Amino acid sequence: MKRPIIYAHRGASAYAPENTGSAFTKAIEMGAGGIELDIHMSKDGHLMVIHDESLNRTSNGKGLVKDLSLDELKDLDFGSWFDSSFKGERILTLEECLDLLEGWDGILNVEIKSGPILYDGIEEKLVKVLSEYKMIDRTIVSSFNHYSLLAIKQLEPELKTGILYMAGLVEPWIYAQRLGAEAIHPYFFNIQPPIVKGCKENGIMMNPFTVDKAEYILAMARAGVDGIITNVPDIALNTIKALDKGV
Ligand code: G3P
Ligand code: MG
Repeated sequence: MKRPIIYAHRGASAYAPENTGSAFTKAIEMGAGGIELDIHMSKDGHLMVIHDESLNRTSNGKGLVKDLSLDELKDLDFGSWFDSSFKGERILTLEECLDLLEGWDGILNVEIKSGPILYDGIEEKLVKVLSEYKMIDRTIVSSFNHYSLLAIKQLEPELKTGILYMAGLVEPWIYAQRLGAEAIHPYFFNIQPPIVKGCKENGIMMNPFTVDKAEYILAMARAGVDGIITNVPDIALNTIKALDKGV
């Protein structure tokens, strides 16, 4: 059976501050075949790799990403909140992140954070950067805001999209097809036999999030998902390796 791609969620975020260079480097070292990251936009229009719209949780700053310029964001410490050994870790622009990923040949999953704050032109900027870095064919763009995914498809039909959702949607592959999306990215409890069957029959990939417990990782792999988004890529990789040994 084909094994799922293991996506390091916000990088290897159980081991390093999420969405930072350290987290992405660790993910690559662990052998992750995929990396998931989140983007917001700075006051001066740069795509910034960060999960929250607010700076409060993951930096020593306060306020919203949208209210600070790139220079102001670069002054903040994005490491100490996680552990003092990461003191001085800086936020990355998407371009800096792609520079760091140079030479890694995995699949990138960029999640556009458009909600509650909407960033005018974020989809255009993302397509431009991915195109400049020749990443169009190696990226899945996901979002909980599916209008963002429609916008991506209109700008660049070759760019794959993945529909993020929490609820137990009925026949989500039909919705995915309606949006021209290649994948669903559901909360992992939604991976149930009828969903797996419908997606497989209709050529829609399934990349559930966020799966950290070995028993659930195993269940997802056995169900035949295409990817698993996890904070613990090392555990996920070891768990699916055990499947090859007939566990
Ligand atoms: O892309 C999967 C997952 O990242 C979605 O939720 O809040 O962790 O960005 P969140
Ligand atoms: Mg995310």
